[in-house]
Amino acid sequence: MDNSLSTPVSEPERQHYFIEQAKDYIAAWENKNHRKPTACVTTFGCQMNARDSEKLAGILIAAGFTITADENADFVLYNTCTVRDHANQRVYGRLGKLNHFKKNNPRMKIALCGCMMQEDAVIEKIKANYPFIDLIFGTHNIYKFAELLVAMLNTDEMVIDIWQDTDQIVEDLPVERKYPFKSGINIMFGCNNFCTYCIVPYVRGRERSRPPEDIIDEIKRLVADGVVEIMLLGQNVNSYGLTDRVNDDCNYGLTDRVNDNRNFYPDFPTLLTEIEKITGLERIRFMTSHPKDLSDGLIQVMKDSKKICRHIHLPLQAGSTRILTAMNRGYTKEDYLHLITKIRKAMPDIAITTDIIVGFPGETPADVEETISVVKKVNFDNAFTFLYSKRTGTPAAAMTNQVPAAEAKQNFGRLLKVVQETARLRTGRLVGETHPVLVEEINAQDSLMLNGRLANNTIVHFPGKPDLIGRIVDVKLTESCGFYYLGIALNY
Ligand code: 5AD
Ligand code: SF4
Repeated sequence: MDNSLSTPVSEPERQHYFIEQAKDYIAAWENKNHRKPTACVTTFGCQMNARDSEKLAGILIAAGFTITADENADFVLYNTCTVRDHANQRVYGRLGKLNHFKKNNPRMKIALCGCMMQEDAVIEKIKANYPFIDLIFGTHNIYKFAELLVAMLNTDEMVIDIWQDTDQIVEDLPVERKYPFKSGINIMFGCNNFCTYCIVPYVRGRERSRPPEDIIDEIKRLVADGVVEIMLLGQNVNSYGLTDRVNDDCNYGLTDRVNDNRNFYPDFPTLLTEIEKITGLERIRFMTSHPKDLSDGLIQVMKDSKKICRHIHLPLQAGSTRILTAMNRGYTKEDYLHLITKIRKAMPDIAITTDIIVGFPGETPADVEETISVVKKVNFDNAFTFLYSKRTGTPAAAMTNQVPAAEAKQNFGRLLKVVQETARLRTGRLVGETHPVLVEEINAQDSLMLNGRLANNTIVHFPGKPDLIGRIVDVKLTESCGFYYLGIALNY
């Protein structure tokens, strides 16, 4: 039947229409097979991808799939990452296993989406070597998943739909949250910073901020639905509201940069102040912060806040100003240290975590010593250390002074040792104290234990019953075990 005449043009109506079509298809499938089809969504990469996967799973559930963690499913969707080559290699490695499952279940469908799919070379490789893939789409048209799903279900050909960019953002589609009590919220998309090693601006597009009223409304709805903790998501939340705005209540969800009738957006600290007022919301987190844009206003708002968690993730990337300049980071080692001093002066109890790259082109052992000295000075609560990965198309990939892998690995080992030791000492500092913990889940290793999180983001394991999950309880921290605590819940 040709439905094209009745297909809505505007969003999200169009996607709701395709969800109905998928429902019909799945109902027929269920009739024939006497069970619902299963779907597995596997996420690689960052919190943005995790949030996107919740949206993808929401559509699948609305269409009639049963979600499973088992990749031997009727439909498998990989939401990919390409920030480092290792992430790409993991995807390729696992596709072989999916092919094996598909041989045993020829009805199985496999789809790939996310950042990796925005790279031309990846698409060419998949077309040539992985012909069993059924659907490929990218980061800019993820909201079209219902439509693409229906296209995939109706053909045996590989469906590929990749956009170079978009200024659309479509809301009000189903979402399946992993946790009922906490949620990520996109406040902006893309990145304008072009750090010379980073592929994100190329695969996620230019920075666009969502209108504040849409963010506040979404948080209010989440809180009404039982959420107590939110994580505001953006590649550089400190520049929220300062670049392009997304006006998503006009007809097609199109950006209207010229005629934005809400003539200005608040900056990030002001947005936080508004979010703080939402009754029932207990904890506010955000990531990621860029040192060059973190303002005194933000430090003040955090200091005065009862809800903003005392944790900041502030990627250092390198401790040598020469390397920071080559990375196009926009700050010096001294700027970074000065910023840390200001933050710690305002909030002595704050946890600070970071990202560090080792092996950027031209980095010498002396540069790495500078990074190590910054790590020792700052005393990070945790640092995520990465070996530099050459990303095609970035300025750093074309630099002629690439560091030999063996040298980078040696430098990495030296840094990691210092990072682990400082983090262990720092994490241990709260032993003996009692702190509020948001209870998140049953411990996977010991079902009598629960996992929870301190406001400063450190994990705590403690004995307790599952009915505490989703609540904030006081836990006495009895022992520090490196990156997490053991504790005892009081009065429960
Ligand atoms: N190589 C290694 N690490 C990278 N990151 C981003 N791009 C690269 C790259 N090409 C790291 C940065 C960033 C984190 C999310 O990933 O440290 O903060
Ligand atoms: Fe990549 Fe730099 Fe943007 Fe972060 S700020 S996403 S490291 S370009």
